[in-house]
Amino acid sequence: MTAHTIDGNALARQIRDQVSHRTAALKARGITPQLSIILVGEDPASQVYTRHKVNDSTETGLGATLERYPADLPEAQLLARIEALNGDPAVHGILVQLPLPAHMDTHKVIAAISPAKDVDGFHVASAGALMTGLPGFWPCTPHGCMKMLESIGYDLKGRHAVVIGRSNIVGKPMALMLLQKDATVTVCHSRTQDLKALTLQADVIVAAVGKRNVLTADMVKPGAVVIDVGMNRNDAGKLCGDVDYEGVREVAGWITPVPGGVGPMTRAMLLVNTLEAAERSA
Ligand code: GUN
Repeated sequence: MTAHTIDGNALARQIRDQVSHRTAALKARGITPQLSIILVGEDPASQVYTRHKVNDSTETGLGATLERYPADLPEAQLLARIEALNGDPAVHGILVQLPLPAHMDTHKVIAAISPAKDVDGFHVASAGALMTGLPGFWPCTPHGCMKMLESIGYDLKGRHAVVIGRSNIVGKPMALMLLQKDATVTVCHSRTQDLKALTLQADVIVAAVGKRNVLTADMVKPGAVVIDVGMNRNDAGKLCGDVDYEGVREVAGWITPVPGGVGPMTRAMLLVNTLEAAERSA
């Protein structure tokens, strides 16, 4: 049996439509949700990502600005700029695009963002809120994955979810979100012994490593839900995920494609967080 596809483009479109409506309602009350994006340096991928974030925002009615600084910007100047944006009531979301140049302390820079404006959900206060179940902004990628599971009506209660990858941005928050929905969660990583023995037990697998073919058909229980967070290039230069899509789709019950899966959902959830930051400030 071939797996059902979870169409990230279609779901992201629905979410963006909802954002557009809620934004219009907020604008009618005189508040335009405003996202401030800061890009330091010339990283080509970051330039593409930040351009997408601005376009996504304006297409849904949000305001967005992109401030670009040279790679040799002193850290103190970046911190001062963040401080100014923290204090600007017209700005609801602040996003500092990563990676930052090597001379900057990423933790220190993220810590400078007000948690109330931390629409990336990267601040330790946001991470702590997620861990303890308090209100706060959730990182966009794992939040998008949860929305995908929700969209197929998947009940995580008592299910075994295996997360492959333990990054602060995806793997760890993903595990906490799954736990919050009463899944039994296993987090695997580069030092995990016998990954296949664990993934074969999984009802849900989230692959978030950044390496091709981390998950192959022989590692998947028939009918499992497979979420692919990876963004890699194959030998032909084509975009592909962490999952051997062609093989795994013959075993899984549900699968997310790359492209057109988690990527558009990540982008949509940033809009949701920015809108919610504005709604909370209202
Ligand atoms: N670099 C790659 N992805 C992201 C993201 O989601 N947020 C930020 N701030 N930087 C990134």
